[in-house]
Amino acid sequence: MELTPLLEDYIEKNSTEEPVLLKELRRETFLKTTQPHMLSGILQGRILSMISKLISPYLIVEIGTFTGYATLCLAEGLSESGKIITIDSNYETAYIPKKYFQKSEFSKKIDFVLNDALQVIPQIEQNIDVVFLDADKKNYVTYVELLKPKLRSGGIIIADNILWKGKVVENFKDKKTEFIKEFNTYVRLDSSLEVVILPIRDGISIIRKK
Ligand SMILES: C[S@@+](CC[C@H](N)C(=O)[O-])C[C@H]1O[C@@H](n2cnc3c(N)ncnc32)[C@H](O)[C@@H]1O
Repeated sequence: MELTPLLEDYIEKNSTEEPVLLKELRRETFLKTTQPHMLSGILQGRILSMISKLISPYLIVEIGTFTGYATLCLAEGLSESGKIITIDSNYETAYIPKKYFQKSEFSKKIDFVLNDALQVIPQIEQNIDVVFLDADKKNYVTYVELLKPKLRSGGIIIADNILWKGKVVENFKDKKTEFIKEFNTYVRLDSSLEVVILPIRDGISIIRKK
């Protein structure tokens, strides 16, 4: 069965509606940024929210905040004393997530760090429950190498863009496709991890540390 736009629309309409604040954030992202397609869509956002609610994490780390859409979706499931550290190196778009984090009921649980993720990760404490990996593809493997020791046993890494618009099975030799393919192989061959790829949007891997 092909996931046609009509079916996708039906799925969105029959899933719990996205919160009003996220609708506003999505609108502003499309009006004011040059790459609004980077934002997690409605369905992906509801999936991130549901996964987070099933886990009730104490510590979530997001690599790649952009305008904060996924941050707010993931924050919905945080436990009472939980927090999400979200990292982005782009100063130009940072005013958007800052504004929406402040407006959100989760504002006190969100730690927005404006810096290169490679600099920030070594400073993060142990016992991460959930990682959302959604930044520069060339560093996906390095991010897993740095974050895996800090992830608790049973914790998960959710990695986005894992099917790269289908290019992973076509004869594309561009760098980003190669990075994604290398990442998928790396994760599959690591015996301390379990992985399943969900064919949602651009492909999402759910990777569990044993
Ligand atoms: C696809 S967007 C993130 C989308 C967001 N997670 C969402 O779902 O709405 C990728 C983001 O990663 C950021 N990024 C890329 N390389 C980075 C790095 N080395 N450190 C921190 N952020 C980085 C970019 O600035 C961009 O905002």
